[in-house]
Amino acid sequence: MSLLVSRLLLLTVTICALATDYTQAQQQQQQQQASFDTTHWDDDETHFNSSLSAILVPRVVGSRGHEQVRNYLVNSLNGLGFQTEVDEFKQRVPVLGELTFANVIGYINPQAENFLALACHYDSKYFPNDPGFVGATDSAVPCAILLNTAKTLNTYLLQQFRNRRDLGLMLIFFDGEEAFKDWTNSDSVYGSRHLAKKLARSGQANLGQRYIDRIEVLVLLDLIGARNPKFSSFYENTHGLHSSLVQIEQSLRSAGHLKGNNRMFLNRPAGGLVDDDHRPFLEENVPILHLIATPFPDVWHTPRDNAANLHYPSIRYFNRVFRSFVYEYLKRHTAPVDLRFHRG
Ligand SMILES: *[C@@H]1O[C@H](CO)[C@@H](O)[C@H](O)[C@H]1NC(C)=O
Ligand SMILES: [Zn+2]
Repeated sequence: MSLLVSRLLLLTVTICALATDYTQAQQQQQQQQASFDTTHWDDDETHFNSSLSAILVPRVVGSRGHEQVRNYLVNSLNGLGFQTEVDEFKQRVPVLGELTFANVIGYINPQAENFLALACHYDSKYFPNDPGFVGATDSAVPCAILLNTAKTLNTYLLQQFRNRRDLGLMLIFFDGEEAFKDWTNSDSVYGSRHLAKKLARSGQANLGQRYIDRIEVLVLLDLIGARNPKFSSFYENTHGLHSSLVQIEQSLRSAGHLKGNNRMFLNRPAGGLVDDDHRPFLEENVPILHLIATPFPDVWHTPRDNAANLHYPSIRYFNRVFRSFVYEYLKRHTAPVDLRFHRG
């Protein structure tokens, strides 16, 4: 991804100018989440480690590793009780020519009215001089976190949550986030552009609603796994959700479930935007919660972004906060949450 993209900044400013009642929705959201009596869920780090080791291989689009990881994601989602879909397409790209991409999507309650969508990208970046690049923080760890969240919440997801009509859960593993040559709007986020377009086209004729409009929020994880990451709030309309992460961190800390003195979730706006897989969804007015470490890990896009440089205490910590956040969102949800920007 690329940092501080002015085009996106402009886009956001334009959307914000059109916003009228997002503040109200945000206040409602904050009231709903004013106090957290957070349920504690046990870790399953054995599962996390085995998921990560399956994903942590060179997996450039079109390679054998890529196909293996894609199959691993499908099998894991099926094993966790998700209905799984593969959104496959071919596209010509710089340097490597025509490639086959495949987003992998898992659903619980696929017929639900609305969805919480959790996302990451599973492709690794192509470096002609570094065929061994594994992208540990970018984004093998985020993908393992999503699978681990589903695993540790599995009894809840498959018992109480299953068959809810108001809300479903989507896990999205985007393909082709990385640029093959230089990051531009057309050489980047191949998978998410394809999926956003597909979800914006499709819908149920009788409801007259597009699938993409049923996503209440897209939570995008990226660049996680290095020591002591910091997460700020990027978008005003999801600031309430970001604050709930801050509060959950605080509650878990008070209950003795988090170690160390560093705070991970900062109750403050980010100093700029980061262009990433959420762009095509943002352009369709999907609310975005961008959980990307800023500053970026210093191993970013170097051969050092590997297993040896991961920081397990930080990963464990993130897993705990994130898992509680997902659980609380699903459990507290009773009515549609509308955080979209509305034209006045
Ligand atoms: C997971 O892997 C890390 C790094 O190798 C290790 O420190 C940790 O003990 C492992 N956890 C389990 C439960 O095996
Ligand atoms: Zn990258």
